[in-house]
Amino acid sequence: MVKVVFEVNGRTIELDVEPNELLINTLRNRLGLTGTKYGCGIGECGACTVLVDGEPMLSCLLLTVDVNGKRVETVEGLTSERNPGVVQKAFMEEGAIQCGYCTPGFIVMAEYMRRRNVEPVDENIKEYLKGNLCRCTGYINIYKAVRKALKAR
Ligand code: FES
Ligand code: FES
Repeated sequence: MVKVVFEVNGRTIELDVEPNELLINTLRNRLGLTGTKYGCGIGECGACTVLVDGEPMLSCLLLTVDVNGKRVETVEGLTSERNPGVVQKAFMEEGAIQCGYCTPGFIVMAEYMRRRNVEPVDENIKEYLKGNLCRCTGYINIYKAVRKALKAR
């Protein structure tokens, strides 16, 4: 076992982990942060996206030991049932959610785009979201929601 200390959604976490433990399993199974979804497990779908030191990473491909000393943000840190943020609200208003399995990954990416002040044009939105797959919505409403969130500065 290896001791790791890292921050998750503003909380300092100290854990002993196996050297091969994946971040997604630490988040979901040990920290109860089940908002981050396990889709493909091979880096193809984006459902497991989290921010590590502000950059999007696929937690199904990342070892927990590799976030030692780093700052992790999951969808739980970016959304709130009582007080929804701009991105969360835009997704609800635009009907960008069906089964919801892909939604956390899209929300994390949309928040990342907002922080980078990405221009809300289709070309950018498609480029940033090309690693996130959705089997339900046909993407139109997701793109609308992201455009709305980017405009709402
Ligand atoms: S579960 Fe990580 S990319 Fe699909
Ligand atoms: S809403 Fe079902 S996979 Fe996207």
